[in-house]
Amino acid sequence: MRQMTIKKFGNKKIIIRKLTREDLKIADKFRDFTNSLVAENAKIAMNEKIDLKGEHKFLSDTLNSVKNKKRVYLIAECDEKIIGTASITQLSWRSNHVGELGGIAVKDGYRRLGLGKYMMAQIIELAKKELHPKPKMIRLFVYINNKPAIRLYRKLGFKKVAKLPKHIQYKGKLIDEFAMILEL
Ligand SMILES: CC(C)(COP(=O)(O)OP(=O)(O)OC[C@H]1O[C@@H](n2cnc3c(N)ncnc32)[C@H](O)[C@@H]1OP(=O)(O)O)[C@@H](O)C(=O)NCCC(=O)NCCS
Repeated sequence: MRQMTIKKFGNKKIIIRKLTREDLKIADKFRDFTNSLVAENAKIAMNEKIDLKGEHKFLSDTLNSVKNKKRVYLIAECDEKIIGTASITQLSWRSNHVGELGGIAVKDGYRRLGLGKYMMAQIIELAKKELHPKPKMIRLFVYINNKPAIRLYRKLGFKKVAKLPKHIQYKGKLIDEFAMILEL
């Protein structure tokens, strides 16, 4: 993709772009986005709020991985806020033909407008173009009861390949996770 795309989703004008070093100066906006997901108890891996130092380190590590062609990372912005992220990270050594999807999330209030699907398609294209070596497949893990995400992944061609029993602690219960794969 170009450095920046501006696209309308519903009646919202949304900027979709790559992460840059300038973003380190607005780490607080990324922290707020991350913490809004934790606060709503979203079905993501993380369940603890992050502080500014932690978010800054995460962004800095991500920029290094992107530079080394090990990760691709996209963000969506609207109303001066970060409202979405998507990333794919290459696995190591004998599995470096596999990219792992992490952190596809859209802020509550901006969902169901097509942004998640758009960002997923873009991040997969970016992974094919920029990761080295080029990935042959993308894998992901998703809570078995995360219907919106599973439907989104199926729409993009991901197939369920395994069920991992009791891998997630959620609301006082141990729930299963699906592993899904998209062959490129
Ligand atoms: C999953 C998520 C990223 C989807 O983002 P989104 O921008 O709302 O998705 P889109 O509007 O592009 O929807 C694409 C498709 O996903 C499915 N979908 C999205 N939200 C859905 C919902 N609430 N219920 C059922 N299907 C849903 C639909 O098939 C939809 O296509 P349609 O609108 O043509 O029916 C978003 O719900 C989210 O951020 N959730 C919290 C974080 C999370 O769970 N991330 C995934 C971790 S594995």
